[in-house]
Amino acid sequence: MDVVMIRLDKYLADMGIGTRTEVKKLIRQGKVKIDDAIVKSPEQKIDTATQKVFCEGQEVGYEEYEYYMLNKPAGYVSATTDAKDKTVLDLITEKKRKDLFPVGRLDKDTEGLLLITNDGDLAHRLLAPKKHVDKLYYAKVEGVVTEEDRHAFAEGVNIGEDERTRPAVLEILKSDEVSEIHLTIQEGKFHQVKRMFEAVGKKVIYLKRISMGSLQLDENLKLGEYRPLTEEELEHLC
Ligand code: URA
Repeated sequence: MDVVMIRLDKYLADMGIGTRTEVKKLIRQGKVKIDDAIVKSPEQKIDTATQKVFCEGQEVGYEEYEYYMLNKPAGYVSATTDAKDKTVLDLITEKKRKDLFPVGRLDKDTEGLLLITNDGDLAHRLLAPKKHVDKLYYAKVEGVVTEEDRHAFAEGVNIGEDERTRPAVLEILKSDEVSEIHLTIQEGKFHQVKRMFEAVGKKVIYLKRISMGSLQLDENLKLGEYRPLTEEELEHLC
């Protein structure tokens, strides 16, 4: 485990015990111990690898990073705060840290896999355009999706940007008045999947993300449910 030295008041505030002012008060009142000793100085540094912190007798474990897999329902925006809409962070009710954010954006009406974390490096690795991380979507599309569309997506289509989209893999699951598809893309442009289908004259009427890099949506998660990533998922992702 990495050695992280952190001030006692920040430690407690980061772990959601209270605001910085509230936790300072608790510390000065002698309600906080490091290992066996009461500590009354909020500036006291803690080695998170070896020391234990107790507040009013309860151990407060430190988490530097949190990682959650959310099955995003429609109706929530992929943001940390919003003046008008509910955000995906509102669904993560048992978080410790206050600095969590969604890794990338799903549209308000899109469902499925969304990673929520406070690990900026990991987010960068997953989102940086040069990293070409695969994102797999399932969609229902108004109109008959054809082999021509498959070829067009493999070549790249014009969605009104300077460059065509990068090669994408379209798998046609059902070709009918309403078609069903899997699409793997390596980019994350605004409304990308919807705009790609618009480019071939079709309309996405339902969209769900199934995977991002090595991370697969856990089918046991109902819409709106979330869980921490397993060690294995985290290892693969990193
Ligand atoms: N593409 C879209 O059009 N919307 C999403 O939410 C994700 C990918």
